[in-house]
Amino acid sequence: MKKIKAAIIGCGVISEVYLDSIRENFQILDIVACSDLDEVRMNSTAQKYGIRAAAYEEILKEPEIEMVINLTSPAVHYPLTKQALEHGKHVYSEKMIAVELEQAKELCQIAEKNKVRLGCAPDTFLGGGIQTAKYALEKGMIGIPHSGLISLSRDYRVYGENLPHLFRHGGSVLYDMGCYYLTAFASLLGPVKSVMSFGKKTEEIHKIKRISSRFYGQEIPLDDCNVITAILAYGNGTLVTLHMNSSSVVDETFHLELYGDRGILRLGDPNTFGGRVSIQKPHNEPLAVPLSHGFQEQSRGLGAAEMAWSICSDRPHRASKEMACHVLEIVHGIFCSIETQTVYQMTTTFRKPEILPEGYIGKGFWEPEEETALL
Ligand SMILES: NC(=O)c1ccc[n+]([C@@H]2O[C@H](COP(=O)([O-])OP(=O)(O)OC[C@H]3O[C@@H](n4cnc5c(N)ncnc54)[C@H](O)[C@@H]3O)[C@@H](O)[C@H]2O)c1
Repeated sequence: MKKIKAAIIGCGVISEVYLDSIRENFQILDIVACSDLDEVRMNSTAQKYGIRAAAYEEILKEPEIEMVINLTSPAVHYPLTKQALEHGKHVYSEKMIAVELEQAKELCQIAEKNKVRLGCAPDTFLGGGIQTAKYALEKGMIGIPHSGLISLSRDYRVYGENLPHLFRHGGSVLYDMGCYYLTAFASLLGPVKSVMSFGKKTEEIHKIKRISSRFYGQEIPLDDCNVITAILAYGNGTLVTLHMNSSSVVDETFHLELYGDRGILRLGDPNTFGGRVSIQKPHNEPLAVPLSHGFQEQSRGLGAAEMAWSICSDRPHRASKEMACHVLEIVHGIFCSIETQTVYQMTTTFRKPEILPEGYIGKGFWEPEEETALL
């Protein structure tokens, strides 16, 4: 079996999750090197996983490395992804694809021009929970999904005291968490046509009060609205209400629901690979749907592995650049609409990703391995 040799750029918190998960779940990927501006982090990752620590430029010049997995901070996704694409590497990037829409469009063009793949997180939409919901929807179990609901509340006054990028442009709640919800619905419903929204900031500047934080005493400006309501009109006719509030209580609440003319579909947390999926039919209580698809546990790297299998099979990959660019445009459109108080008309589109084959559940002994579902 041919493996795709890949390198990781960005040896931060999520890199260990990726490296452990790829080793555990995905034989198609052979991670051979890692890089980071922070040499201590880079060397400790290299040592822990027995891979090479190398400068990014060195990785880009290495012909045997075919893919770069970009796990750096959102603000540098664009320049680092661009560099790799220009060196003829396939790139799988953590969310979001870029901070600005024009940057995302440019990355898509460079990938096309250089005939290399560009894929993007979140890949949780390929997990057992959302794939099962897609299966139920596509089998007509709730009929026509006329409307839907996306809602999330968190408290970034707590999270942000240790992760101040959550207050800044590109890291605020609609980018950092909205992408999970918007990608889940993109994979189920397809592209959005237009967007209308309202938003507000609950504070202009956040002063860090947590004495254990290394940012204690700093005053961080809030770049983006942190309370947002929006209506998303999908091309298939579904009208979705979106609500995000990152200035509520720390105990997270979420809703991800579709209301059809023959039933209601409720999804689990789109920031996980599993999650409870339920269907409610007339005059019945909501009933849990048995998960029909694999990857129900931590499977970070699933999107990169699916892209690697797609390269080997010469077919489109599911966590596509077009879908990632579209999801970024929804966020961009929401902020434009808040500012102009007009309806934002979307300019990008994408092909809804195919559902994964059902039935590949578990690590395999009697049953086929989950990774077989990606072949
Ligand atoms: N932490 C999580 O739970 C989590 C979950 C899902 C997705 N993500 C996403 O993963 C990405 C990374 O998040 P993280 O939590 O690991 O962040 P992190 O800050 O822990 O790590 C980012 C790493 O990138 C490195 N870096 C920054 N600029 C660089 C450059 N120009 N060249 C080389 N290295 C550079 C930093 O030195 C740092 O080690 C983000 O896009 C984030 O949205 C994080």
